[in-house]
Amino acid sequence: MKEGKGFGFLHYGILVSVVLGTIFGYNLFYGDRQLFLPGKTTHGHHQVEMQCSACHVESFESSEPMQQACMNCHGESLDKARDTHPKKKFTDPRNADLLANLDATKCATCHVEHSPEITGEFGVTMPEDFCFYCHQEIGQERESHQDYSFDSCSDAGCHNYHDNRALYEKFLAKHLDEPNLLDNAELRIPNAVDLWLKKNRDKPALQQQDSSSDAVPGATQGIVEDWAQSVHATAQVNCANCHDSNNWVTREGTNVNHNISIDSCVSCHERQVRSFRQGLHGMRLAVGMPPMRVKDARLPMLEDAQHRSLTCATCHDPHKPDLRQAATEACLGCHSDEHSLNYRNSAHARSWELEISGEAAAGTGVSCASCHMPRTKKGKAVFVEHNQSLTLEPNSKMLRPVCLNCHGLEFASAALADRDLINSNFSYSISSSHPSFALVRKRLLEKKARKQKRQQEKN
Ligand code: HEC
Ligand code: HEC
Ligand code: HEC
Ligand code: HEC
Ligand code: HEC
Ligand code: HEC
Ligand code: HEC
Ligand code: HEC
Ligand code: HEC
Ligand code: HEC
Repeated sequence: MKEGKGFGFLHYGILVSVVLGTIFGYNLFYGDRQLFLPGKTTHGHHQVEMQCSACHVESFESSEPMQQACMNCHGESLDKARDTHPKKKFTDPRNADLLANLDATKCATCHVEHSPEITGEFGVTMPEDFCFYCHQEIGQERESHQDYSFDSCSDAGCHNYHDNRALYEKFLAKHLDEPNLLDNAELRIPNAVDLWLKKNRDKPALQQQDSSSDAVPGATQGIVEDWAQSVHATAQVNCANCHDSNNWVTREGTNVNHNISIDSCVSCHERQVRSFRQGLHGMRLAVGMPPMRVKDARLPMLEDAQHRSLTCATCHDPHKPDLRQAATEACLGCHSDEHSLNYRNSAHARSWELEISGEAAAGTGVSCASCHMPRTKKGKAVFVEHNQSLTLEPNSKMLRPVCLNCHGLEFASAALADRDLINSNFSYSISSSHPSFALVRKRLLEKKARKQKRQQEKN
């Protein structure tokens, strides 16, 4: 019978869907999630791609909760950047018409994922000239911009979409005609230990015989000696402060807790732990995954580092932390791209060697960490920013916290706009001329001429 057949067909259809659905569902939650990725995930996010729920909070359709996921990781730094195009600018009714073509209140309008064929630099999935949608009139409003095309707005560090802290006109005018190298070229020095000692003047440093090493399985005399000479013994941090029996498993143990170092550091170094989790090195821990492994990297890494992973103890030997070792040697224990390997040929590396050998003053050397983990002032404290993505892209974000301590703005801007120079890790010099400054110079001259003219007319 026709009807029966039809029904049978439907029945098979349901059966097939159920079976396929179960296989998909199983894979999505327990099996190979990679199968469901519509395409390659971006450079910035591939390390967390297997944790779909890091972004797809509730479902794969709705983008509202996803917006919150983006803000969880990026909100703080966009706020700090005084985002030039924040959501609130577009909820202002006067700007409502601008959203007709492009919903700028949603991150995913411009940053779609898993679509490498349309993804450009900085994870942007808009055509390069998209600024046109809202700034059509700029050529009429500003004579200086008449001849620019809309795909050149972000060229050579002229404008960013979110972060223009080092690019606005007044700032450029203030830093016009600075020398390439400033007279007092130096960086701040982290001062947590000094602040601690000041507050705890009367507390004597712990000695070998004070150690609580009995409580730690596998303790050796070598470890006790290292510890006794470390900042931690000075600051009265004993073995048991980190080797709390609740979260501690020895490395030889079968049940190694990956978060051991993070868990045991966070009670005293909350700031470093928080910023570490916000950057690429720590982003997996931020979404509840095991620490990042070198073998998952897309960037070139040393062959013999493939087994290593990233926690606090990767750069800091917990028993004798050495900040100088952490600042370059540690990095070069993993990174082996062209830029990283060229560091040793640079004037900066020479300045760092002079600082370490004591021939130059503390603060005058430039290590990998000087640029990627800048020293940041908060009140009286100078601490080390552990989010190594914060100054990375667009790289004009490195100007204020790093380069401008030592170089003039135009020289440093020109250097950061030069890809070959970056690949060489700044190991040769360049002429400092940058298009934004030419523009500002022209405008200032015009302004001066207008003023003179007015003066003449008055006289
Ligand atoms: C870093 C954040 C992030 C992670 C992690 C992530 N996605 Fe996505 N995904 C996105 C964004 C953003 C979009 C685009 C949404 C839009 O267009 O509104 C998207 C879109 C999708 C789409 C729809 C594609 C389309 O063409 O419409 C699917 C399916 C998807 N993701 C699957 C996954 C799966 C499966 C995982 C885990 C294995 C995953 N995603 C992990 C951010 C992420
Ligand atoms: C109208 C398009 C647009 C929207 C909407 C948008 N962005 Fe962007 N975003 C860009 C462009 C363009 C860049 C490239 C760098 C630049 O010009 O600042 C960028 C760069 C970035 C970067 C890397 C560089 C940086 O400045 O930190 C992050 C992170 C980022 N966007 C996050 C977000 C988040 C989170 C949202 C949602 C709150 C969002 N973006 C909404 C256009 C957009
Ligand atoms: C688990 C935290 C996390 C979540 C969730 C997350 N991001 Fe990111 N994102 C990062 C980190 C860390 C980087 C920096 C990677 C680097 O250093 O290259 C990054 C990089 C970016 C970039 C710049 C890409 C580049 O080339 O460096 C953009 C744009 C961006 N994210 C937008 C988004 C948007 C939009 C969402 C929401 C769909 C989102 N992010 C969700 C952590 C996150
Ligand atoms: C969806 C609309 C929209 C898009 C797309 C857009 N802008 Fe804007 N932009 C605005 C609005 C609104 C303002 C605020 C104007 C104001 O406050 O007078 C603004 C302000 C600015 C400012 C001045 C910021 C300040 O605070 O001084 C710059 C520079 C700028 N945009 C550059 C860009 C660039 C470059 C692009 C493309 C990468 C872009 N915009 C894309 C809407 C947009
Ligand atoms: C600042 C926190 C901290 C202090 C203080 C500390 N440890 Fe550790 N210890 C760690 C961490 C983190 C590891 C794991 C290192 C790793 O994963 O590579 C570790 C590892 C160990 C191990 C395993 C073997 C090894 O070398 O990795 C032993 C044994 C040990 N510590 C003993 C001690 C003794 C004894 C003291 C006191 C004299 C002490 N620790 C003080 C954090 C600390
Ligand atoms: C009980 C508190 C406590 C714990 C737990 C602790 N530290 Fe410390 N640590 C301190 C104090 C106090 C100082 C000195 C002041 C400062 O730098 O904050 C210090 C200093 C440091 C320094 C700077 C060394 C220098 O030469 O200036 C590093 C690096 C460090 N700790 C790493 C770690 C790591 C990694 C862990 C976890 C494995 C950890 N600490 C756990 C209290 C602690
Ligand atoms: C990628 C390497 C790296 C990792 C991983 C790392 N650090 Fe650091 N850390 C450094 C470097 C480099 C410095 C010193 C930089 C300088 O002096 O310019 C430093 C400085 C410090 C200091 C002393 C200066 C300050 O900020 O007050 C503390 C404390 C510290 N780190 C704790 C931690 C903790 C806790 C973790 C784990 C969340 C961690 N670090 C992970 C490289 C690292
Ligand atoms: C244990 C190995 C290891 C050590 C040590 C290490 N890194 Fe990394 N680093 C990585 C891995 C893995 C990534 C992610 C690469 C990827 O996903 O392709 C990364 C990413 C980065 C990035 C982001 C690159 C980008 O394009 O988004 C920077 C910058 C960086 N590291 C700088 C440093 C600096 C500076 C140090 C020393 C203070 C350091 N790293 C120490 C393994 C390491
Ligand atoms: C004078 C500042 C400076 C110094 C010193 C420096 N870097 Fe960089 N680094 C940069 C800039 C600028 C970029 C490019 C950011 C961009 O535009 O994408 C970069 C990019 C990177 C990247 C990403 C490379 C890629 O292909 O995506 C890694 C990894 C990195 N640096 C690691 C290191 C390591 C490791 C050292 C020390 C051996 C170091 N850097 C020294 C400024 C510096
Ligand atoms: C602590 C100070 C300091 C910081 C921070 C610093 N530099 Fe330098 N830089 C120097 C010194 C010193 C030299 C050597 C100057 C000389 O020999 O004439 C130098 C040289 C250079 C050179 C020329 C190299 C050569 O071989 O002549 C470039 C390009 C450069 N720096 C770019 C940068 C950029 C871009 C930044 C920020 C990402 C930066 N520097 C951060 C101190 C610094």
